[in-house]
Amino acid sequence: MAETATHSGTAVRVYDLHKSYREGAHALEVLHGVNLDIARGDLTLLMGPSGSGKTTLLTIMGLLMKPTSGRVELLGRDVTSLDESALPALRRRHVGFIFQNFNLLGALNAAENVEVVLGLQGVRGRAARKQAMALLDQVGLADRWSHLPDEMSGGEKQRVGVARALASQAELILADEPTGNLDSRTAAQVVDILRHLAHTENRAVLVVTHDLGLQEHADCVVRMRDGTIVEPHDGVAA
Ligand SMILES: Nc1ncnc2c1ncn2[C@@H]1O[C@H](COP(=O)(O)OP(=O)(O)OP(=O)(O)O)[C@@H](O)[C@H]1O
Ligand SMILES: [Mg+2]
Repeated sequence: MAETATHSGTAVRVYDLHKSYREGAHALEVLHGVNLDIARGDLTLLMGPSGSGKTTLLTIMGLLMKPTSGRVELLGRDVTSLDESALPALRRRHVGFIFQNFNLLGALNAAENVEVVLGLQGVRGRAARKQAMALLDQVGLADRWSHLPDEMSGGEKQRVGVARALASQAELILADEPTGNLDSRTAAQVVDILRHLAHTENRAVLVVTHDLGLQEHADCVVRMRDGTIVEPHDGVAA
């Protein structure tokens, strides 16, 4: 395991989460009572075989989908029964997403890609450029700010993805296989950056990965199988 982080609170906590998907006339339950607590200040890996429910769990924790039953608490607040219309604003403010395919805008350079996210929070013009440059510097890309996505390596593109997630003040950063398109060395670099940011900015970073080599770069590892958490046993990732 990597250096220990200082925890300060829980970003997201789920209780007895069940999720069923409709399959024609039937409902297929894919989460069977998941309890999990994701701490701020930690980089947590979520691992498990294909189909075990990782993306489903991440999507519910990111308030992109409601569970069939159970409870979701974001920053100590029960958000399960909130109206759908209240969720986008909460998500924008408190949850950042990093994608496997980077999701960068191809016509915009690295700095502009970060500025788009800053713009959503009302930061524009010179202030946005200054913040974007500082964020790119944090991920080691200060000298690549004017490059278009096509002019960057996979690892560089994903570091722009990380800078975009950091551009929001989101306490919870969720990443579904963010290193799936990267070689293992580059993947470890990206995860190290994320871990450093979790520690220094007290964010909770939850990363889904199949890459066993990343375990030693994480503060804790959660394992799923067939819709349940098999490790840690008490569901508290700490
Ligand atoms: N929209 C959907 N409708 C019906 N079934 C779904 C839907 N999304 C996922 N499933 C099913 O739910 C189960 C869990 O899927 P999920 O995508 O959460 O797994 P995963 O752990 O992320 O897998 P992978 O590692 O392959 O990404 C699978 O059996 C999948 O087929
Ligand atoms: Mg998945």
